[in-house]
Amino acid sequence: MTRIDSTPAPSTEAVTVHAAGAAQGSWWRDAVIYQVYPRSFADSNGDGVGDLPGITAHLDHLVELGVDALWLSPFYRSPQKDAGYDVADYRDVDPLFGTLEDFDVLLEAAHARGVRVVVDLVPNHTSDQHVWFQAALAADEGSPERGRYLFREGRGAGGEEPPNNWQSIFGGPAWTRTTRADGTPGQWYLHLFDSSQPDLDWSNPEVRAEFEDVLRFWLDRGVDGFRVDVAHGMVKADGLPDWDGHVAMVDGADGDGTDAVNGSGNSGPMFDQDGVHEIYRAWRRILDEYDGDRAMVAEAWVEPLSRLARYVRPDEMHQAFNFSFLVAGWDAARLRGVVESSFRANDAVGAPTTWVLSNHDVVRHASRLGLAEPENRPNGLFATDPQPDAELGLRRARAASLLMLGLPGSSYVYQGEELGLPEHTTLEDVVRQDPAFFRTGGAEAGRDGCRIPMPWEAHSPAYGFSPDGAAWLPQPSSYAAHAADVERATVGSTFDLYRTALRLRKAEALGTGDLAWLGVFADDPHVVALRNRDVVVLANLGDAPVALPAGAEVLVASGELTDEAGAAAVPSDTTVWYRA
Ligand code: GLC
Repeated sequence: MTRIDSTPAPSTEAVTVHAAGAAQGSWWRDAVIYQVYPRSFADSNGDGVGDLPGITAHLDHLVELGVDALWLSPFYRSPQKDAGYDVADYRDVDPLFGTLEDFDVLLEAAHARGVRVVVDLVPNHTSDQHVWFQAALAADEGSPERGRYLFREGRGAGGEEPPNNWQSIFGGPAWTRTTRADGTPGQWYLHLFDSSQPDLDWSNPEVRAEFEDVLRFWLDRGVDGFRVDVAHGMVKADGLPDWDGHVAMVDGADGDGTDAVNGSGNSGPMFDQDGVHEIYRAWRRILDEYDGDRAMVAEAWVEPLSRLARYVRPDEMHQAFNFSFLVAGWDAARLRGVVESSFRANDAVGAPTTWVLSNHDVVRHASRLGLAEPENRPNGLFATDPQPDAELGLRRARAASLLMLGLPGSSYVYQGEELGLPEHTTLEDVVRQDPAFFRTGGAEAGRDGCRIPMPWEAHSPAYGFSPDGAAWLPQPSSYAAHAADVERATVGSTFDLYRTALRLRKAEALGTGDLAWLGVFADDPHVVALRNRDVVVLANLGDAPVALPAGAEVLVASGELTDEAGAAAVPSDTTVWYRA
């Protein structure tokens, strides 16, 4: 392979990182799973909030894209204080999103198209409107009703100080004081998130039994699995000891996945306690009772990756989100480091590695990678912040996605990234809804900017999100150019890139493939280059173009290749797949 830039080539031997495993055949080992955020996907009834019939109506978009499964963020009964991650009834659909019948229709329609459906489970906390919490507030201190949550006496002579010094992940104290029926101040309750999201006490057998029953409720209905919210947070250290660390929403992992726990996000007494694993073992036994290869994925901001791999031991969950990949920024050495640590950790326990670049909690990668320091992970952006370079961000996002989809394992795609959607970075504060914005007193913009309603049609009101132009958050005008109807019909659009990549990924069996670094680039500061089965995936993160070997058969590229002295070359911030 000829290089146009001048980096010396140390070796030409391939360096094997991951061998195609014997453990194959389960859909979740190599699935591409598409995250639907129901509020923002498609609104069928014109109230400005997406709903289940809206999802059903757009399933063919996902079939055309070529994904294997959907993960639905919560659609359960909820006062929507945290966009549905505050569940008041785990066995019903919120009227905002439809009915249980609408869910059954969606599930059947997805299955009829060969698309699996994974639902979100929120076991760390309930809504304060949940019947259990209402009963707890009405009951006495020390009652069984209070024993389902973490009620404690305050510190100080009159109990006026919180029981410990923990901070909420959304800002402010993690404790709220209750008021007794007679108006006097009472006990405090713990909430790692908003005060409307009281934490359950998972040492209580009643809590365990309830969630096992909830699992069965949805398994009986036919779901293919669960995404488990805050899976590292359910068990707290005995005695709830003080902790001076600070936990931030998007800060729970530290980059290359190899570092010791960094003290910022996941080492506190509320996270990654050994006791969580027994819960997942019990759940695994339940899933295994069902046919159809049901699966669980952990949302656990845990590092190092060897520690995260404990969640996917053979008798626990099937997958865990790989946030180390998401936070690796746009740096060749760091990306290689994460890929290697991911395979080392997951191969050791026989689990598939997963990959993810965007979700409903982080700045969309089409904008994040256009920031001056992409490895920084702000919790949303204000109009007054330095703005991302939209063109650079999209170019890098396409390259990052094509790199991700060329890796063995399972990949997650967040709704709209297949359209190259940017973050809304200039929302006015009056429309913001994320509790993180309010609880930080406006210091953090929060996550609304990555949750903007989808653009389906360039020339319709609200870009086709709703029948009447209603939308719970305003869409930026830049969304017109990204609308699905335009992108589906445009060769070379981001949708076209994903569709082509997913087709090739399947045809070449890349999801169950192997991985070896191309020796010539193994330590290259600008290039990530690997071989997966017969396909070479080469991402050029540097400025100088990288020439392809003579005779390389290009399968797909994230941008136009250039011609350098008669040879095809990969320009800056571009990924190519080719057959060598
Ligand atoms: C998870 C969800 C996030 C939610 C939080 C509390 O991190 O992804 O959206 O706010 O849990 O449930």
